[in-house]
Amino acid sequence: MIPLTLAEVATAVDGRLVGADPDARVTGSVEFDSRKVNAGGLFVAFPGEKADGHDFAEGAVEAGVVAVLGTREVPGVPMVLVDDARDAMGRLARTVVDRLPQLTVVGLTGSSGKTTTKDLVAQLSSRLGTTVAPPGSFNNELGHPYTALKADSETRYLVMEKGARGIGHVRYLCELVPPRISVVLNVGTSHIGGFGSQANIALAKGELVEALPADGLAVLNADDPLVAAMASRTEARVVFYGEAADADVRAEDVVLDERGRPSYTLVTPEGRAPVRLGLTGRHQVSNTLAAAAVARELGMPLTELAQALGELGLVSTRRMDVFDRPDGVTVIDDSYNANPASMSVAIKALAALGGGRRTVAVLGYMAELGPYEYDGHAEVGRLAAELGVDRLLVVGESAAPIHEGATAVSNWGGESVLLTDQAAAVEVLREELRPGDVVLVKGSRYRTWEVADALRADASGETAA
Ligand SMILES: Nc1ncnc2c1ncn2[C@@H]1O[C@H](COP(=O)(O)OP(=O)(O)O)[C@@H](O)[C@H]1O
Ligand SMILES: [Mg+2]
Repeated sequence: MIPLTLAEVATAVDGRLVGADPDARVTGSVEFDSRKVNAGGLFVAFPGEKADGHDFAEGAVEAGVVAVLGTREVPGVPMVLVDDARDAMGRLARTVVDRLPQLTVVGLTGSSGKTTTKDLVAQLSSRLGTTVAPPGSFNNELGHPYTALKADSETRYLVMEKGARGIGHVRYLCELVPPRISVVLNVGTSHIGGFGSQANIALAKGELVEALPADGLAVLNADDPLVAAMASRTEARVVFYGEAADADVRAEDVVLDERGRPSYTLVTPEGRAPVRLGLTGRHQVSNTLAAAAVARELGMPLTELAQALGELGLVSTRRMDVFDRPDGVTVIDDSYNANPASMSVAIKALAALGGGRRTVAVLGYMAELGPYEYDGHAEVGRLAAELGVDRLLVVGESAAPIHEGATAVSNWGGESVLLTDQAAAVEVLREELRPGDVVLVKGSRYRTWEVADALRADASGETAA
């Protein structure tokens, strides 16, 4: 964080200093986990469900923090007292980013691919200047201010993922950390249970471009009509990316290699350049174009950009993580999360990687689909069968419609089985996997990732019992 006196902190958060020196300066980081506090830092005490942060206030002072920001006094501890600690962290973050004129904030939203693309943008922007981006999917009203507070006078780029579970969420996150470049990836059906309709999801995601200043930039997916339509919701300039012929930053001649890695010709107003990605899956064309549109805006020349795209790697785990086992089995660990759109891209990647090899998909339940739950699962099963996946292992009774959707495809040559749990899936895999097989593992979070872990452990020779 930029150094601030406690008086400045108190003003920023509308708080009251108790037993604290207004002229003392916070020079370290702002932490809400007492194990992470450092000398010169600020500790934020949250009243948690299991533990109350205020119980760790004294320890934080011993570890050298200048003060504790919290909601009640702790005897002997210099405090910044506020009504709501989370709200205070948000206000503090806003104060910090407002004091950093050299900072360009990039915000990303969409139904799928936010974390992936956030990591891509951050890798590209790091080549241009010091970049702060959150680890993994730290994209909520706590992760946001926490990440923004990492920015200081050295930071040129702050790359933020904006998740939304309802109308107004993205707008709120943009009030905490206002973007100058807003990227909207796609409007799918994730969390549709909470939103009610796809139109509402579009309404919520579009708040990201509404938050732009007139001299900002909206980066919109030309291939997704609900995203492209968001152009009318901002005063800012718009750059379209995609495969559509009229996209400003587009990919032509897309081909996948035997590992499912796309190559394409990158076409921008500055010219054309060949790109060969090291990332797996057709969907990475779209994600890398979005990242390219941002890097171009930040000033990266075309040839350097094409080269940099080819050097992009995976940063966050369990997202299209492809690895080969010594026994000749290839595993695609995409088990971080799942919704119908991301299931679809993952199954297509499996099919692309398959090419002549036997393909196995281990698919689990997709959470938060609401009334769309049955159809969402059944369509995934149908797609797997239509793309000729050879073996389908459906994990858990709640995911049964995937099995039903697949078996309803009459001319499918593959086979599906519904299994009670992950352990059963691991057992079947140990029984059936042969050298050369390609296995995809995907579901909503913990619902399949033990299967991926078991496949990994088997490869390293450990036996996961
Ligand atoms: N552009 C995309 N369109 C559809 N699905 C995607 C896209 N990019 C990634 N995915 C899929 O979504 C999964 C989750 O990706 P992630 O980047 O964590 O998304 P988010 O942060 O939006 O939840 C990936 O593992 C992949 O299967
Ligand atoms: Mg995410």
